[in-house]
Amino acid sequence: MRYRRIQVRQMCGAGGGEITGVNLAAGVDDETLAEIRRALLENLVVTIPDQPLDDSALAAFSARLGPFGIEPFVEGSETHPNVIAVVKEADETTRFNFGGNWHSDWSFQDTPPSFTLLHARELPPVGGDTLFANQYLAWESLSAGMQRMLSGLRGMHSARRPYGPQSVFRQGILRSMKIRTGEEALAERAHPIARRHGETGRTALFANRGYTIRLEDMTEAESAGLLDYLHEHSIRPEFIIRVVWRPGMLTIWDNRAVQHMAVNDYHGHRREMHRTTIKGEEPLAA
Ligand code: SIN
Repeated sequence: MRYRRIQVRQMCGAGGGEITGVNLAAGVDDETLAEIRRALLENLVVTIPDQPLDDSALAAFSARLGPFGIEPFVEGSETHPNVIAVVKEADETTRFNFGGNWHSDWSFQDTPPSFTLLHARELPPVGGDTLFANQYLAWESLSAGMQRMLSGLRGMHSARRPYGPQSVFRQGILRSMKIRTGEEALAERAHPIARRHGETGRTALFANRGYTIRLEDMTEAESAGLLDYLHEHSIRPEFIIRVVWRPGMLTIWDNRAVQHMAVNDYHGHRREMHRTTIKGEEPLAA
């Protein structure tokens, strides 16, 4: 079905859609909102350039997509608790950046976010792109035998590595972000590896290097071979959607269908993004 209210240009072979013809700060009517949502479900990631949103406008538009998700380890802003700032300062030249490992947002939660919205406030002159990997394609390109085996398995998701007591974030890295670490990050939650999307009904591979630490009822060592294979497979070049940011661009992605990572290639320059998440469903087995 074509779009009547917006224009959508496909960005990459693996998906991604650039939406034009909307002014989010001015408010969108229900038909436009429904088209944006449809474009998101069809393209997995959408960019909407030239949107001068402050935190109030970002939060107001986000709330049209569903109730806010819970931000477990990053404190929101004082005035807009559902908006978090993702910031790397020019003098922070560590190899760690927020979101720099492949992941699906907060996949260790009982109901991980469906959508994430990220708005570009300040960008390096070059670099700082975000990569997405299409997990429908990752699932569909596995052999029938592998799909059969994975269909009975659940992955154990945990925030332990990035946010646990041994986390690098404890050392004050990324000082402009309000990151919490601690024992609560040790919890684990099982989710199906073959995940049925609650809105599209399609099956996606649901395991990511950031948070899927082992398979259910197996040790980390026993799980490592298969999980390593899946982690490498899930980010093959033909699954990648690359977002090259411009100031004021809003990107929205569907965590049920993509993984993502923030490329850390802009040392010496500041990057500031503002982010919200939308509560999703409990992951369904395919
Ligand atoms: C994130 O994982 O939400 C951060 C993505 C980015 O900064 O590009």
